Amino acid sequence: MRTILVLHGPNLNLLGLREPDIYGQLTLEEIDHRLTLLGNELGVRVRSQQSNSEGGLIDLLQEARNWAVGVVFNPGGYTHTSVALRDCIAAIAIPVVEVHLSNVHAREEFRRQSLIAPVCKGSISGFGWLSYALGLRAIVDLSEDG
Ligand code: DQA
Repeated sequence: MRTILVLHGPNLNLLGLREPDIYGQLTLEEIDHRLTLLGNELGVRVRSQQSNSEGGLIDLLQEARNWAVGVVFNPGGYTHTSVALRDCIAAIAIPVVEVHLSNVHAREEFRRQSLIAPVCKGSISGFGWLSYALGLRAIVDLSEDG
């Protein structure tokens, strides 16, 4: 069975408590549970991981090359700053879809730029936890096409 990595970046472990008017009421655990159920429906295994550090995320992405067919990735604040994460995604052969809970284009100016987007298959932003669900569907389809 194909396995997909759902990777959450910094501060997403605080979901549910963190600015719920922007990021919603669901905890990270609840989102991961929903994605596991969706994965069952789609016939894939979902493995979720989270790190608050840039190096931690890079290690997880590099390791995922060995077992995942693709990645649904919310890089959090590193979206707008991290050359190292961008280089990592460019270096690994598996497809990555960038997702955001909030609509990053409707917020502060600095959130409009993503250093990650150009090296991803695509980006989904603004649909709350459904951004992850849509990203998972996209990765499943992409990995079927080979
Ligand atoms: C976020 C958007 C980022 O700008 C922010 O720094 C986050 C969360 C989102 O999911 O909407 O941490 O990635």
